[in-house]
Amino acid sequence: MRKIKIFLLIGFCLLLTGCQKEDVKENTKEITIGFAQAGTESNWRKVQSQSIKEELEKQKYQVMSRNSFSDPKQQYQDVMTFIAYQVDLIILSPIQEIGWEPILEEAKKAKIPVIIVDRNIATNRTDLFLTHIGSSFKAQGGRAGLYVTNHYQKIEKETINVFEIKGTENSSPTRLRHDGFTETVGRDPRIKIKETITGDFIRLKAKEEFSEAIKANKLNNIDVIYSHNDEMTLGALDALEDHQLENKFVIVSIDAQKEMIELLKQGKVNCVVECNPFMGELVANTVKRYFDNKTISEDIYVSDTVFSDQNSLSTIPPRNY
Ligand code: AHR
Repeated sequence: MRKIKIFLLIGFCLLLTGCQKEDVKENTKEITIGFAQAGTESNWRKVQSQSIKEELEKQKYQVMSRNSFSDPKQQYQDVMTFIAYQVDLIILSPIQEIGWEPILEEAKKAKIPVIIVDRNIATNRTDLFLTHIGSSFKAQGGRAGLYVTNHYQKIEKETINVFEIKGTENSSPTRLRHDGFTETVGRDPRIKIKETITGDFIRLKAKEEFSEAIKANKLNNIDVIYSHNDEMTLGALDALEDHQLENKFVIVSIDAQKEMIELLKQGKVNCVVECNPFMGELVANTVKRYFDNKTISEDIYVSDTVFSDQNSLSTIPPRNY
C-alpha cells in the first residue's frame, strides 16, 4: 500500500512538471534567440540592430542573427532556418507585412514563440506571435501632417501640393505613415498629395527616383516634400543639388538621424518626426518576462518625439546615428 502511495506521488509530481512551459531553461546562457533582421538600408536600422543585440547579450542570451538585406524571400527563409535549428524564441523585424502567416504557423507547430519588432505583419491571428514592439507609424504620419497643416494655417494660398517619398512597398511604415499623414492633412482641403515616388527607405534609390521626377518637371507647383525616412530625404536633397535647384520647399522627414537634425538646425528642413530605434531594452525585458512565465502586453509602444522649426532646437540631445 505504502509503495502504491509513493508511486502515485511521483506520478503526480511528474504531471505537475509536465504542465509547466516545456523545456524551461534556468540559465539564460542556454537560451538561443534567433534574430531575423530586415536589412541595412539606413543608419537607423544599424542602430536598431545594435540596440537589440546588445541588450539581449547583456542578459546573457545566445543570439543567432541573420540579415536578409531587404530581400523578403530571404527573410522568410531566415525564419525557417531558425525553426529548423529549433531556437528557443524568434525575434522578427519584418521587411514586408505580407506573407508571414504560413511561416509563423510553422513556428507555432514547432512551439517556438515569436516577437515582432519595429515593422508589423498583416494578420488577424494573434495566436501566431507573442507581441509587437515598436513605434506607432500612423502617429508618426499624423505628426508630419500636423506640422504641414499648422505651417500653412495662417498662409493664404489656394492649393498646397505635396510630393510624397514613400518607403518599401507592402511594409507597415509605408502604409501607416501615408495613412496618418493623409488623415491629418485631410482637415485642410487645400493640401493634396500631387506626386508620389517609392524610394525603398534607401538614399540612392530615392535620389534616382527624385532626379527622374525633376527631369519630368514633376516638381513644378510642389510646396511640400514629405519623406517617409531621413535617408530618402537626403537622397532628394542630393538630387536637388545635382540639378542645381534651389531648395524652396517645406521639408518634413521621419527618423531624426544626426545628419537630419543638423539640417533642421541649419534651416534646410522644417520638421523631423522621430522614430526611436532604441527598442533593445524593451525587447530583452519582454524576452525575460516570457521565460519567467509573466504576462506580456499585446502591443508595446516605443515613444517618439517631434523636432521642428516651430520649437526650440537648442535642447535637442546629441545623437550618435
Ligand atoms: O521600419 C522603420 C523604418 O525602417 C525607419 O524609419 C527607416 O529608417 C528604416 O529603414
